[in-house]
Amino acid sequence: MDDHVPGHTIIYKPRTISTNDDIIGLGQKGWDEGTVVVADEQLMGRGRCGRTWHSPAGVNLYFSVLLRPPFMLKQGYTLTMMAAVSLVSAIEKLTGADPFIKWPNDIMIGRKKIGGILTEVKSRDNMIKFSSLGIGLNVNTFLTSLPDDVKEKATSLKIETGCHIERKQLLLEILSELEHWYHVLKSDGKESVFYTWRNMCKTPGTMVSVSTGNTIVRGHAFDVGSSGELLIQSETGEIQKITAGDVAP
Ligand code: BTN
Repeated sequence: MDDHVPGHTIIYKPRTISTNDDIIGLGQKGWDEGTVVVADEQLMGRGRCGRTWHSPAGVNLYFSVLLRPPFMLKQGYTLTMMAAVSLVSAIEKLTGADPFIKWPNDIMIGRKKIGGILTEVKSRDNMIKFSSLGIGLNVNTFLTSLPDDVKEKATSLKIETGCHIERKQLLLEILSELEHWYHVLKSDGKESVFYTWRNMCKTPGTMVSVSTGNTIVRGHAFDVGSSGELLIQSETGEIQKITAGDVAP
């Protein structure tokens, strides 16, 4: 297995259901680590927590990467972290914009989201067999073409920088960052990825309301634990560790 070449086989599809589904299919058929499926349009793009990822043709990036990390299932969250670090680095380098991470792994500019990561994993005996690392990035969308329910919360690189961004160039830059950070993760362990992710994540130090599905936790997000959990102190002083949820100010 070639251990550090995400991006060495890139399959382009003008239209697909979901690039994560495509990669899961290829993973089950034994395709190599590093295989990428990129689509111009997705008919049923998936986001976190069962949401739809709006995926119109011709404007954005939707792609998934097949990874076969020698990791336990419980370490899977580190793949999403290294993807977030790779996205922020690539966007900074190529566009001069100032993206950051909002916990858990939203890619933001200012108060709005430009990208997200959906990592899906197949496992056996608590070990990861393979993972589909799915990335969606709003690149050249105009505000008017965003659906009403996301207009308030989403933006694109074009809206933020005023420049049209060459999607192919951005994809290659992201894949090159992924190659670098995946190699770091596998060779050095999670520490340097976590350190960089922590510096890019602006949620600690803010007041938050986190919706976890069945409850809303309010308080001061004072840190992120080493497994990526958000540490919140409520007004009563109680400390809560949140492993998944949506953060609002
Ligand atoms: C999120 O909710 O923030 C994660 C969004 C992930 C979307 C990407 S687009 C490419 C890949 N295919 C999918 O169906 N989803 C991911």
